Amino acid sequence: MTAVVEENTASSAPESQAGAVASFEVTLRIRRYNPEVSAEPTWEEHTVTAYGTDRVLDALHKIKWETDGSLTFRRSCAHGVCGSDAMRINGRNRLACKTLLKDINPDKPITVEPIKGLPVVKDLVVDMEPFFASYREIMPFLVTSGNEPSREHLQSQADRDRFDDTTKCILCAACTSSCPVFWTDGQYFGPAAIVNAHRFIFDSRDEAATQRLEILNDKEGVWRCRTTFNCTEACPRGIEVTKAIQEVKRAMITRAF
Ligand code: SF4
Ligand code: FES
Repeated sequence: MTAVVEENTASSAPESQAGAVASFEVTLRIRRYNPEVSAEPTWEEHTVTAYGTDRVLDALHKIKWETDGSLTFRRSCAHGVCGSDAMRINGRNRLACKTLLKDINPDKPITVEPIKGLPVVKDLVVDMEPFFASYREIMPFLVTSGNEPSREHLQSQADRDRFDDTTKCILCAACTSSCPVFWTDGQYFGPAAIVNAHRFIFDSRDEAATQRLEILNDKEGVWRCRTTFNCTEACPRGIEVTKAIQEVKRAMITRAF
């Protein structure tokens, strides 16, 4: 990494160095794919000037806005909340908006590819529909019976803690698309759907746990998990994905939830 110091004041006096910002050159090696141009993907390199606070998303923006407007990727919040910019960066699933360039060795070209296991639409954009279809199947909503309640459903702190971890999911698909079972069998529900089933199965206010467990007891359900921990390593929210899957498996056997 060749660092360059830029002064951000007109003065060249030594004290002005205090406000100086170091920049460096970084090369992104991006997997490009446009089915209207070629059936085969290609690799393309772009070098940009970056700063210590820049993330992979900032470099992608720079390329798109200043060099090649056709570069296609998803992003919305740019702050790790919406889950739309999961991509494979240097071979690992990460959110581009939460990955600082300086943290992933900018001395070498940084590879950026779409997440695996889902059809690529263009460049870094994949078709998320199979992912969301699995999510919808596990009924990701609270199910209760009886009359509309006249007051809120009360829950103890301990009951709430039971599923706290899995409420943090932002549906980025980093876990599901890092799962070798999902790569080879696109029918497998995948970790994210199971995480979101966990979130309701262990919610004391919900009444559809048995139904969800039946859905996940399917041959493409929770039993396909081979406990490789890729999902836990990939999750940008730090959710213990494999543990949640294990808890769902156990609940299926014991019917205790
Ligand atoms: S569990 Fe983590 S990696 Fe998987 S979809 Fe949710 S936030 Fe993303
Ligand atoms: S752009 Fe929203 S999580 Fe990265």
